[in-house]
Amino acid sequence: VSDAPVGVFDSGVGGLTVLRALTEELPSEQFLYLGDTARLPYGTKSAETVVRYAQQATDALARFGVKSIVVACNTASAAALPAIREHANGIPVIGVVEPGAEAACTATKSGHIAVIATEGTVQGGAYQAAIHRRRSDARVTARAAQLFVALAEEGLNEGPIAESIARHYLHPLLADGKDAPDTLVLGCTHFPMLLDAIRKATGPSVRIVDSAATTARAVHEALSAVGILRSSGAGSVRFFATDGPDRFARVGSRFLGRALSPTEIEIVDL
Ligand code: DGL
Repeated sequence: VSDAPVGVFDSGVGGLTVLRALTEELPSEQFLYLGDTARLPYGTKSAETVVRYAQQATDALARFGVKSIVVACNTASAAALPAIREHANGIPVIGVVEPGAEAACTATKSGHIAVIATEGTVQGGAYQAAIHRRRSDARVTARAAQLFVALAEEGLNEGPIAESIARHYLHPLLADGKDAPDTLVLGCTHFPMLLDAIRKATGPSVRIVDSAATTARAVHEALSAVGILRSSGAGSVRFFATDGPDRFARVGSRFLGRALSPTEIEIVDL
């Protein structure tokens, strides 16, 4: 079992920020990344639709014989984790929301945490619930920052446009006098790409956390706990998408932090 791949699932290329952290944390694992590029974005779709798409992706990963599934998409983690677990036949399923909430609760001193995410993630309230489970007295202020997804995909990570949109979303969220949040959760796979622009808008005193590194550690622990960690040998990644190998490779290279060729992307139908 330990030689079976770890399935990593996202609505598109955003989850490559999580895959990057996973390959650093688990260098001997064989990963199979599936991006549902034909149907993204998930962040503006209803929870019912996201659940249905996520179940189909889970079934596809199960057909590949994965030993575990990482839901590397905040929107799918927030809306569909129980449904994915039901479809996963008992293999470990790890989402990004719980590790993100964990990182936020570790970082905050005041207990006031701001969350930015997609519309679907904010509306579903999964971050708010996950933070309150860990710290019942926490105050959570959440806001959808949907344009950040498009900015990151267009490569407009920095400069005046990114900075002005970052101010648009973050200034109302953080302008709360002495009760302002001291921690900001980047609750969407795309947002770490805009870190510099976000940092300029928050100023230096706000702690900014995302879930990539904490998720990678959670996956490490989950695989160890059930004795299916692959701890020696070379690691590998296979990439699957539901549409557009050229765009996947072009946009995905930036998210993954290394060059991707369209020939590396295999197209699947869910
Ligand atoms: N991967 C999604 C997330 O983390 C962002 C992109 C989308 O909306 O599909 O919420």
